[in-house]
Amino acid sequence: MAADIWHYPRTQLAQQYMDVLKTGLTHRLALFAPRRMGKTEFLVLDLAPTASRRRYLVIYVSLWGDVNAPHHALLDGLREAVEKSAKKRFVFRKAMEAAVKKVRVNGVLGVGAEVEFADAPTAPSKSELAEVKTLLQTLAAQRTGKVLLLLDEVQHLTTHERFRPLQYALRTALDVLRGQINVVFTGSSRLGMRRMFGDNQAPFYLFAEQLPFPNLDREFVTFLGKTFKRVTKRTLEEDAAWSYFERLSYNPFYLVHIIKLVALDPELSFEEAYQLVFDVMAAQNDYPGRWRRMQPLDRLVYVAVAEAKPLYTAEQLKAFSARAGKKITAPGVQKSVRRLLDAHMISPSEERGRYVTELPGFAEWCTQREG
Ligand SMILES: Nc1ncnc2c1ncn2[C@@H]1O[C@H](COP(=O)(O)OP(=O)(O)O)[C@@H](O)[C@H]1O
Ligand SMILES: [Mg+2]
Repeated sequence: MAADIWHYPRTQLAQQYMDVLKTGLTHRLALFAPRRMGKTEFLVLDLAPTASRRRYLVIYVSLWGDVNAPHHALLDGLREAVEKSAKKRFVFRKAMEAAVKKVRVNGVLGVGAEVEFADAPTAPSKSELAEVKTLLQTLAAQRTGKVLLLLDEVQHLTTHERFRPLQYALRTALDVLRGQINVVFTGSSRLGMRRMFGDNQAPFYLFAEQLPFPNLDREFVTFLGKTFKRVTKRTLEEDAAWSYFERLSYNPFYLVHIIKLVALDPELSFEEAYQLVFDVMAAQNDYPGRWRRMQPLDRLVYVAVAEAKPLYTAEQLKAFSARAGKKITAPGVQKSVRRLLDAHMISPSEERGRYVTELPGFAEWCTQREG
């Protein structure tokens, strides 16, 4: 693949996941991380090539590719795979490159709100569902045990009733072909992933092993520093870059944009670039609107969650009361937590009774407004 000097390779992580699949203990992994945390780049630029090197036939499908008809994206991906699997194994390069380009273009800063949910959802026909099954069987027969299906943004299937038949068809086909087709699911909605794999009424209940998708680490920032130097002949303040990365909740998308801005304009300070990107991020995620719609207590609770403070201690209730200018009780905080959960602004964390915030930089945004 054409080397992308801005892509930090995560080969070791790719190998870890492939090793888990190789054990045969599970044939399906589910990875969650919020949006723009690097899932697609990882699937396409790290996992797919690693699997290819291990002689897997790799198929990448984004179920968000066609918001109204996710089955079309799946059928296209599978048809193409069947057509090409007879040929050379690296023939998928082209498809992969196209996939990542699309991600990049769609992800360019300044692009307005993305279409998240279907506005005219269509259900697959019976024959389309049958074709999904046949294509999967054909692939499995061609490359037994060596097929890797990458299903990106899989939680999209939980967002409409009409997508449910596709879930059932996939689940049944993949269940039968267990051991022949490996699957890596990724999702960017914690709630969606829980609906998909953690709800005992759902077709995919406990169907995949949920593994963590780790944040990018300090080495990533060092890597960006090297690329920065190659491009500009200047030195990137790595400690500063790292601290901005932390402030951005380890979101690579926004960090890379800050660094590219500084690369393009030597006059621009890191802080100025951060503010520019911060403003775009706030607009892109509609922070002003969210802020306006939030009740005052919800803003305080959101910030407390972001700062990992316990919410119900006497001390914290006192702090909330002082800030709110009226008495805040535990049931009041409970209601606020419920509202934030319903608005997908926070999610339960792995640790019982704890929550995490979902929007990069929004806590800082709230803090700035609170003064
Ligand atoms: N390994 C990486 N190296 C360099 N930049 C990355 C990497 N992973 C993600 N990024 C940056 O973050 C952006 C978002 O990544 P993406 O894979 O689209 O996120 P997701 O699929 O989780 O929404 C990319 O467009 C890129 O700028
Ligand atoms: Mg993605």
